[in-house]
Amino acid sequence: MPNVPSSRALDLLADHLTANARVTVLTGAGVSAASGVPTFRGEEGLWKQHRPEQLATPEAFARDPRLVWEWYDWRRQRIAACRPNKAHEVLAAWSERYTDFTLITQNVDGLHERAGTHNVLRMHGSIWEVACWTRCAGSPLRWRDETVPLPVIPPRCSHCDGLIRPGVVWFGEAIEPGILMRCREATRCDVFLTIGTSAVVNPAASLVQEALERGAYTAEINLEATPASSLVDHALRGPAEIILAAVNERLGRLCGSGGSR
Ligand code: APR
Repeated sequence: MPNVPSSRALDLLADHLTANARVTVLTGAGVSAASGVPTFRGEEGLWKQHRPEQLATPEAFARDPRLVWEWYDWRRQRIAACRPNKAHEVLAAWSERYTDFTLITQNVDGLHERAGTHNVLRMHGSIWEVACWTRCAGSPLRWRDETVPLPVIPPRCSHCDGLIRPGVVWFGEAIEPGILMRCREATRCDVFLTIGTSAVVNPAASLVQEALERGAYTAEINLEATPASSLVDHALRGPAEIILAAVNERLGRLCGSGGSR
């Protein structure tokens, strides 16, 4: 049985999630771990087996698009076989429960959307979107492509026959300004939760500080300590899928109705 926080700690978080609270949640790879999607850091993490600069930078793609696409194709196949877990489901239910709810995710797997979550801001793009590498005039800025496995690697743009790239934000690339602005605006909230992220990649990692400065109650849910742990009002150690389910159950009791859908 994994370590879980005390009942008192779970009650405390539930107490802050009042019916009219403005709630913002930042998620990372840990939220999808129970679904079978590999995380990046940690013992089994993707960055233990691969170097980000060989697979997740524009330079890496320019150097070896086949290698980069083989890796993304493998990840797409793996994610396609995964289903949202309890953590995704509870957050999806909260996106209906709270009128002012924003989910900021660093995940590109699309599992929050598949769980039915409203108002998702994808900071790092989507593994299910692609774009023309040369941004040719004939193609849209980005489009959806959920084909797994890809029939041809590297895939080519049907307009200019140049390369297509994954629709994700690589190291060294800027977050889309409109998305970043909305993420920053969402730190103006009553409760800010940082869940399943190692909190080392900016600008996502800096959002918790912004939320604190704006007076939000902040909490972290993670298996282990991160740089955010010493900043937040309340750090809860344990699996997100178990802690969120337990907090949701309390909310259901407090409101006298079923918490999760
Ligand atoms: N419940 C809660 N936390 C978990 C769970 C779980 N079941 N499983 C793992 N974790 C935690 C780990 O302890 C770790 O702190 O999730 C975190 C995952 O960290 P990372 O692998 O670094 O993922 P993330 O923070 O999302 O990475 C940020 O880095 O490489 C990039 O673009 C990539 O978006 C990614 C960014």
